[in-house]
Amino acid sequence: MPTLLVQNLPHGAIAVPAGTTLLAAIQAAGHDWLHACGARGRCTTCRLQIVSGLELLTPPTEPELRYRAAGRLLPTERLTCQTRMVSGQVVGRVPDATKLPHVTYAE
Ligand code: FES
Repeated sequence: MPTLLVQNLPHGAIAVPAGTTLLAAIQAAGHDWLHACGARGRCTTCRLQIVSGLELLTPPTEPELRYRAAGRLLPTERLTCQTRMVSGQVVGRVPDATKLPHVTYAE
């Protein structure tokens, strides 16, 4: 099964079932993750900084392309509520700007 490894989360290796968004898989694994608009593609708070495996993710959605054009989403970032995985292992990090105050993150 495709796996997402979030480097700065404790126990950060997360199975991502086919057809499941990264956000849904992260939440199913018990992690608290910022998602201010309720996973509707209307904010960027659920974003993940991709370290490797960008090519293993589904293509950017219309909201992601819109935020990229507006400079609010880097080419190396994806919205977890919009993104699914095809195969393999993707490695990412929670950006500093979207860390939750009550969660302890690794370096
Ligand atoms: S939760 Fe708002 S864009 Fe993903």
